[in-house]
Amino acid sequence: MGGHTVAVSDLTGGPIPTHVACVMDGNGRWAARRGLARTEGHAAGEAALLDAVEGALDLGIPWITMYAFSTENWRRPADEVRYLMGFNESLLVRRRDELHQKGVRIRFAGRRDWRVPKRVLRRMDESMELTAGNRRTTLTMAFNYGGRAEIVDAVRSLVADGVAPDKVNEKSIRSRLYYPDQPDPDLVIRTSGEHRISNFLLWQLAYSELVFDDVLWPDFRRGHLFEAVRDFQRRQRRYGGVT
Ligand code: IPE
Ligand code: IPE
Ligand code: MG
Repeated sequence: MGGHTVAVSDLTGGPIPTHVACVMDGNGRWAARRGLARTEGHAAGEAALLDAVEGALDLGIPWITMYAFSTENWRRPADEVRYLMGFNESLLVRRRDELHQKGVRIRFAGRRDWRVPKRVLRRMDESMELTAGNRRTTLTMAFNYGGRAEIVDAVRSLVADGVAPDKVNEKSIRSRLYYPDQPDPDLVIRTSGEHRISNFLLWQLAYSELVFDDVLWPDFRRGHLFEAVRDFQRRQRRYGGVT
């Protein structure tokens, strides 16, 4: 994609996506290019996250989901995993009041398993409680999140409730997802030039429009979001039908 030439006013004539989901990728490569530790790349990603949220508020996007840590990211070196846990905790502590003041409802999607430190879970709960009444936008952090794990959890919950086979359908599975009230993403943005889904929102993105941007996540700013929305507005969504 080219320079950041798209302004909010260029987009208001077209459809604004109701839900935008981002795979925030490329932090490690951003750091490596600068001769820094990978963790420095994660730290630099904070500004990108906050600016992306600002951009979503500028456009009036009511749902944003950010992929922060996958169920596969535990495979990383222990010190990087430890850093990411602490970083996500401190980010919440430092940023939740500011997000709250902006009218952002914060939620978390993912497994609350034993590997996530208790104090991180506590910060997550505090942030959700603090911002539960906000409706300007809902920011869902996908943390210890895997799309397959979410579907497994949904099916488990149906089985645990003794739901009959003929009552297992798309509606009942959806009702057991982590956030059944959340609309499917209209637009998914992945940075860093990788063209894959990496186990993100597998159920929900059946008909999402995908935009891939070469920018490394720490360099992402709201202008990149606006460009992605412009691309989205040029797409024709058919959902299997004809137009
Ligand atoms: C994305 O950046 C952040 C997380 C997955 C937590 P990466 O850490 O994957 O950066 P690259 O892909 O190695 O450059
Ligand atoms: C996806 O990025 C997960 C997050 C951005 C949190 P990864 O960097 O983990 O994905 P792969 O390993 O390149 O597929
Ligand atoms: Mg990566």
